[in-house]
Amino acid sequence: MPTMVFSMLAALDVEPGNRVLEIGTGTGWNAALLCHRLGDLNVVSVEVDERVAAEARTRLLAAGYHPELVVGDGARGYGEGAPYDRVVATCSVGNIPGQWVGQARPGAVLVAPWGPVYGGEAVARLTVTRAGMLNGRFVGSSAFMRLREQRRTLPPTNAFLDPRAWPAGGAESTTSLCPDDVGDWIHMFAIGVQVPDLFCRVSDVQRDLYRLWLFDTGGTSWASADHVRGAGSFRVVQSGRRRLWHELESAWCWWDAQGRPGFDRFGLTVDHRGHVVWLDEPSAPVPRRGRDARMRGEAV
Ligand SMILES: C[S@@+](CC[C@H](N)C(=O)[O-])C[C@H]1O[C@@H](n2cnc3c(N)ncnc32)[C@H](O)[C@@H]1O
Repeated sequence: MPTMVFSMLAALDVEPGNRVLEIGTGTGWNAALLCHRLGDLNVVSVEVDERVAAEARTRLLAAGYHPELVVGDGARGYGEGAPYDRVVATCSVGNIPGQWVGQARPGAVLVAPWGPVYGGEAVARLTVTRAGMLNGRFVGSSAFMRLREQRRTLPPTNAFLDPRAWPAGGAESTTSLCPDDVGDWIHMFAIGVQVPDLFCRVSDVQRDLYRLWLFDTGGTSWASADHVRGAGSFRVVQSGRRRLWHELESAWCWWDAQGRPGFDRFGLTVDHRGHVVWLDEPSAPVPRRGRDARMRGEAV
């Protein structure tokens, strides 16, 4: 997707003489563009898939480019080529590997698609500080394949309940929040950042109906919300020790109350606290709900 490649290169903002580490060689096109701009000796690209890497090598040679191509797990970076002035990941992550930061110079720029388990993802443009921390903003939405080691196999619906037994004694209520209004990429991002162990599924899809399921990765609770096109009230069933629909609704209401911010108002800091997503300023972290908040004794 050329617009995505070029917007990420614009965010990377390379300068003559910069050394760049790319994670995810893929076709080799981005590596070729970087070589064209910075010279072969300044570009290292890591690809985990041997066949994909071999094809990229052939293509790059044919086009007259000779970057250092490494076949291996890009989550480890490539220490032999460090230090880097720029690091660009062309696969997405939920956790930025420490090696990428450790192999970058202070002041280096790291560009990577980042997203929570629930869904929603955006490209983060982060600067490496002297203390080895990262800080910066999201610069636009994205939808990349996940870095191989960070792909999660989430439990299937029948790990929580037999769908034929639904509503299975769950607590019933109604909501005026339409399940269709929580499913855009930015909604999913805002919800997923606040409730990091939440994930969803959709079932029973018909012309004007579907069932949205919510689960926690710990397998403790489930909720369902039935969408009916044009309705003003929707049936909700919740089971387990958490009320996952209520957690989602609180997360959506927080996003709504902030003026429905887009990706460009969010930023990310990675430091001793872990990955902290903030709104407008690093001093304004996005609240955490559910299990994380409970563990810290906060209200959900
Ligand atoms: C969207 S493609 C990259 C596009 C590429 N930059 C280009 O110019 O065509 C994502 C690539 O990341 C690779 N990938 C996934 N996990 C990886 C990992 N742990 N280390 C290195 N590459 C990985 C995939 O095999 C895939 O080729």
